[in-house]
Formats: sequence, C-alpha cells, structure tokens
Amino acid sequence: MARVGIYGATGYTGFELIKILARHPGVEIAFATARSAAGQRLSDIFPTMIDTPLVAVEAADLRAADLIFTCLPHGAPELIPLAQAALEAGKKVIDFSDIFRLSDPDDFARRRGKPHPAPELLSAAVYGLPELHREQIREARLVANTGCYPLTAILPLWPLEQAGLVADRTVIVDSKSGVSGAGRSLSLKTHFGETHETFSAYSVGRTHRHLGEMEQETGLHIIFSPHLLPVYRGILSTIYVTLRPGTTVEQARAAYAVYDGEPFVKLMPDGRLPELRHVQNTMYLAIGLQQVEEGRYIIVATVDNLLKGASGQAVQSMNLMLGMEETAGLL
Ligand SMILES: NC(=O)c1ccc[n+]([C@@H]2O[C@H](COP(=O)([O-])OP(=O)(O)OC[C@H]3O[C@@H](n4cnc5c(N)ncnc54)[C@H](OP(=O)(O)O)[C@@H]3O)[C@@H](O)[C@H]2O)c1
Repeated sequence: MARVGIYGATGYTGFELIKILARHPGVEIAFATARSAAGQRLSDIFPTMIDTPLVAVEAADLRAADLIFTCLPHGAPELIPLAQAALEAGKKVIDFSDIFRLSDPDDFARRRGKPHPAPELLSAAVYGLPELHREQIREARLVANTGCYPLTAILPLWPLEQAGLVADRTVIVDSKSGVSGAGRSLSLKTHFGETHETFSAYSVGRTHRHLGEMEQETGLHIIFSPHLLPVYRGILSTIYVTLRPGTTVEQARAAYAVYDGEPFVKLMPDGRLPELRHVQNTMYLAIGLQQVEEGRYIIVATVDNLLKGASGQAVQSMNLMLGMEETAGLL
C-alpha cells in the first residue's frame, strides 16, 4: 500500500479526494491536515470510515507519506514551502492550486505581474492532464493538477488544433460553474443570497487567472468569460470556434479519435450536447459538437469540477505516478 498525505482535507476538493481514497485499493492515508478543524478526527466532520486525526499543517509528519496532495487555496503561504520540503525529502507532490501550472517563468511573470517565487519548480512540474501528458506524469515528482475551467477548454480544443483544423486562432470560451468551484471558505460572492436565483459573469475577457494554462496547452488565443451558476457542482463551457472552410462534421468529429480508449473523455453522439447532470458526480468530461454554418462550430463541454475537474483527476495522476492501474479507485 502506498501512503498519502492530504493538506487541506476539510475543503471541497479535500473531501472529494478522501471519498475516492477511501475506496482505493492501493493507498492508505498517512495524515490529513485541517486549519479550523485541527485536533478533531475526519469522521467527526464527515460521514466517512476513515478515522484519520486532523492535524495542523506544521504537525503533519511528511516522513509518513510517499506522496502528498496539497489541496490548499491558491495563494496559501504554506504551498511552496510544503512542495519544496516534500520534494527535498524524496516525496511526490500533486498540487491542486495554480501556482505550478505555467511551465514558463516568463509567461508566469507576464501574466501575474510578478516573478514566480520558486521558478525552478515550474520546470520540474508536469501539467497534470493525463490525456495530453501521460508519460511525463508517470515520471513526475511534482504534478500541477489542472484547473477545472481550463479542462473544459483544453480537452475539446486540443484535438481540433492537433488536426490542423482551427482557422481562427482566437477562440471564445464561455463557461458556467457551480459555486463549489470557488471553495468552501466564506466569501460574499458565493454567499447563498448572492448566488441563489441569479446568474452573473465575472473576470470576463482576458483577466481570469486560468487563461494562461488554457493558452499554454492549446496554443490558441482565448477570450474567456466565466459565470457563476446557482448550482453546487459542475461546469458547462460553450466554445465558439472557426474551423477551416469546408471542414465537415465528420472531419471535426474524427479529430476526437485521439481520445479513443481514454476512460474519462466522452464525445457525445452526433447531434447531442452534454448537460451538467450527465457528468455531476462522475469522472467524465463530455464533449458535444455542432456545426452552426460553414466553418463555424459550437462545442459544449461539461465536467464535474470536483472530480475530473480536481480530485478525481489528481487520483488519475497519482495512479500513474505510483505505477498503479490508471483508473484504480475511479470507476
Ligand atoms: N473547488 C474546485 O472546484 C476546485 C477545482 C480545481 C482546483 N481547485 C483548487 O484546489 C485547491 C483547494 O480548493 P478547495 O475548493 O478545496 O478549497 P477550500 O474548500 O477552501 O478548502 C481549503 C482547505 O485548506 C485549508 N486551508 C485554508 N487555508 C489554509 C492555510 N493558509 N493553511 C492551511 N490550511 C488552509 C482549509 O481549512 P479550513 O476550512 O479550516 O480553513 C480547507 O481544508 C485550490 O487551490 C483551488 O484553486 C479547486
């Protein structure tokens, strides 16, 4: 059995991770950290058979784990020191935040307006998207788990770009996410009174912090508008893309043959578009494609932000990093 440590076990992604690990045949939990719930047991907080004590970050014994998951909010000051300490101790790391997702330090500095605090880790990190980087993930010691929004843009667009079918390199990605995408911490934006029976856009255009990884992985220029949907989980992205004149639906659909054999990516039958409910509580990223007029296509992609969009994706990478069956614990 491999032993894994979880930092931020009481958050939305941390809890999903624990639910998966509880039924995973090849791992056991070495430690789990919490901030406000430190000192309690996991089973005091959630209905789980995993009775691990929750400890503060400083009290976690790194030596007890072969691999750690850092499910801390982006910007948590502990993130980089934790990754550094774990790597120095010979452990493997899967980080859920966006701090290691851009591979080029100059790109990071340009997009964030300040240099990366540990640029050497950017070249060590592998972007945790098995469908594109499976072999690198197997060998990786640091994996930057994908963003949930980016996943719904990268997986639908990458095959079309690889096939040389994209004519207009500016692509519009219009996404709607359930409120769990913002994490469990209290904020006015995700307060019930602010989200219930309303619908709002935020960080539109070229301002959202996850634009960089979408462009890095697709090579395209993206206009991205995220929206906050008054549901708990799931993302639906509508993508407006112009393909080479004369591209038929059959040619466009044929590009997705690169996902044949992928356990968690599903191209919907011709004429069908995926809905949130098709993927909520599943590991699937579903893609539907429709021609609008000559060259113009609309793609609709849906994913569960907490599973394939976060914790399930991390376990898929963990399985690769530990030499286990890629789908272990996920089917
Ligand atoms: N939510 C999603 O759909 C999603 C999808 C993809 C990626 N991600 C990324 O995954 C990471 C975790 O997201 P989440 O939604 O699970 O967040 P969350 O619900 O806010 O949970 C964060 C966890 O970290 C703990 N924590 C917060 N600040 C800490 C600090 N400074 N030191 C130590 N522990 C701290 C929290 O404990 P307390 O509750 O006691 O504060 C909680 O256990 C983020 O980087 C996020 O961007 C999230």
